[in-house]
Amino acid sequence: MIRLDHVGILVRNISEALPLYRELLGLTADPPVELPEQQVRVAFLHAGDGQLELLEPMTPDCSLAKVLAKRGEGLLHICFEVDDIEASLRHLEAAGVSLVDQHAWTSPHGLVAFLHPKSFRGVSIELRQQVIRGSKQKRGTLQEEKAQPTMLALSGKTKVCTSLGYPIAQSLSPAMQTAAFRARGLDWIYIAWGVRPEFLAVTVEALRANENFAGGNVTAPHKETIVPLLDGLTREAEPLRAVNVILRDGDRLIGHSTDGAGYVAALREAGYNCRGKRVLILGAGGAARAVGVALADAGVAEIWILNRTVTRAESVARLLADAGFSHVRVGPLAEAASALRQIDLVVNATSVGLQKEAPPLFDYGLLRPPALVSDLVFFPRETLFLRQAREQGCRTMNGLGMLLHQAVLSFERWTGRDAPVALMRHALLEALEARERNA
Ligand SMILES: NC(=O)c1ccc[n+]([C@@H]2O[C@H](COP(=O)([O-])OP(=O)(O)OC[C@H]3O[C@@H](n4cnc5c(N)ncnc54)[C@H](OP(=O)(O)O)[C@@H]3O)[C@@H](O)[C@H]2O)c1
Repeated sequence: MIRLDHVGILVRNISEALPLYRELLGLTADPPVELPEQQVRVAFLHAGDGQLELLEPMTPDCSLAKVLAKRGEGLLHICFEVDDIEASLRHLEAAGVSLVDQHAWTSPHGLVAFLHPKSFRGVSIELRQQVIRGSKQKRGTLQEEKAQPTMLALSGKTKVCTSLGYPIAQSLSPAMQTAAFRARGLDWIYIAWGVRPEFLAVTVEALRANENFAGGNVTAPHKETIVPLLDGLTREAEPLRAVNVILRDGDRLIGHSTDGAGYVAALREAGYNCRGKRVLILGAGGAARAVGVALADAGVAEIWILNRTVTRAESVARLLADAGFSHVRVGPLAEAASALRQIDLVVNATSVGLQKEAPPLFDYGLLRPPALVSDLVFFPRETLFLRQAREQGCRTMNGLGMLLHQAVLSFERWTGRDAPVALMRHALLEALEARERNA
């Protein structure tokens, strides 16, 4: 079922907007809007119970306003609420409608997807599906997946994916990947394997010997130590000498990395184009390396790497230079003040947000807009680092988008199928909420 949720008007020229508003929507009342020039470019009208009601005007820097302003050609914005956004998107895609972004993503209102205005004679269309928290009021495909665990029928042909780590009990990947396998009707399962370091070699041998093993993930502490046990690395993993994905190629197990690409995909999803940007990476471990290489690939202008242990930062700089990117500066964390004066994007790739007792990396009062401030940690969702950045007016991003998109890219490599991104996000958030409740 589809309901009209609200209508928005991108006011560049209200006289152009009004006929569209009347003709396309069949609405007779003039929109009750008086918009200050330039100041507020988008206003929302709520169309419910035959009433039109002016909602909170959108500020120019809110994400939808940015999407509309960037796109320019859409004067009208119409939002529909649907029961099952995945099904609606599949249906629309089959009918040749294109999406603005590749995927539906989570906003404070639930799952949203923007359909390209060209598909609708210049009108911008948004689909929205409420993400219902808790398990009782669920409806639609996402909920059916949850409500019917027996849909997962195992067979002798069931393909097995594993995640290797230690400890692994808190992993959110089984929830995401299982939801995705089910949604795509695949006879596949995903299981977390807690493997102590001394058993890693024998575990890799067992996976190689198991013809049902279709691929897997690798997490701490095995991302680097597994490399010599594998039969090769992909182009993405080769410079990093660290992997978070295992691909199967006949009898060969190939290491791959989707962490960095996952981070860049999360940025893109947040509407952030990193091309030409000056980046500060805090930390010089495996995640910093993966993100650094992916950002260099994505066309950033300059990368600063500051780390507690400067020699590790220098080795990341060498890695980037070997990959053909030489606009790198390194130093100790004490150089944060001077770096931050020149920076557009901050990536906290240290694990300090996980450590309850750890002192701040530096005075977080130095984090100022317009920098986008991100932390790869997602549990807690808002680290002290992100909280202070937000309180000082910075836009912030935690590590959940990276976690989701590295999983999306893993799924697509293993299965050769498009990942059901909205569903995976939903499963991820549910699993995270469960983890938070039990913490
Ligand atoms: N969102 C995701 O999908 C995702 C994916 C991968 C990783 N991550 C997160 O990213 C973080 C880094 O992971 P990693 O694999 O790169 O870990 P890692 O290889 O162990 O590196 C840890 C980094 O943090 C620094 N560090 C640790 N404790 C510190 C402290 N108290 N003060 C200052 N610096 C400190 C280390 O500095 P030294 O070099 O001086 O020791 C090092 O640079 C972790 O929190 C991990 O959970 C998230």
